Amino acid sequence: MNKIDDIADHNLPKHLAIIMDGNGRWAKQRGKHRVFGHENGVKTVRTVVENCVKIKIEYLTLYTFSTENWKRPKIEIDTLMRLLVSSLKKELKTFKKNNVRLNTIGSISSLPSRAYKELMEVMEKTKENTGMTLTLALSYGSREELQSAIKAISIKVKNNIISSDDIDETIINNHLYTHNLPDVDLLIRTSGEHRISNFLLWQIAYAELYFIDVFWPDFSEHHLVEAIKNYQNRERRFGKTSEQLI
Ligand code: IPE
Ligand code: IPE
Ligand code: MG
Repeated sequence: MNKIDDIADHNLPKHLAIIMDGNGRWAKQRGKHRVFGHENGVKTVRTVVENCVKIKIEYLTLYTFSTENWKRPKIEIDTLMRLLVSSLKKELKTFKKNNVRLNTIGSISSLPSRAYKELMEVMEKTKENTGMTLTLALSYGSREELQSAIKAISIKVKNNIISSDDIDETIINNHLYTHNLPDVDLLIRTSGEHRISNFLLWQIAYAELYFIDVFWPDFSEHHLVEAIKNYQNRERRFGKTSEQLI
């Protein structure tokens, strides 16, 4: 079994992003409703956050609810929102203890008002924390993010605040929900699906991808450590040759 202490402290991913997938199938395998899977998925979130703090990951981003997830049955959406509110209430203490700052990306104003209010409150209460930045992607879709960035930039061009010649990667970055986050280094997806599902398309341009055939509620310290050790053994060339990296 892999343990956190097995991880070498050099070459850690600065920004780890996770597509937490497979709650529904995990529950179905046990003859239970999907909701049971989500409830157990919350427990995994808690241990992953604590373990990332121990590993000293600086930025952890969790895909929690996508723009497409609004198409799910109302009862499931309601449960997910209720779980979000109750976990935020419960976790504030652990965020404080672990010096975690809560951040969100996505169109969070479309969340139910209780969830929106709770998020705002926890973000406000953790804003001075200097340890790990935990970002929850909520009502997040990469295409929606790019669409609103393009709109905002176009308005600035129209009003002569910037010229179209000024548009570069930095300007685009500054208009994304992730403007205060570095690029993703390692992206993990659980559940055996090999797709991105509209998550951080711009930000994963050079991320290392890691897919694991384990449903989210079963994703443990062992699997997290395995993913990070695997990342540490990869050569990230960013277009260069191996020889140029020495
Ligand atoms: C991930 O698990 C949680 C969310 C998308 C909110 P799923 O609910 O997608 O579980 P599966 O993929 O149907 O098993
Ligand atoms: C992606 O999972 C969204 C989250 C994990 C929040 P989905 O289960 O919604 O993705 P698809 O629909 O299978 O691609
Ligand atoms: Mg899924």
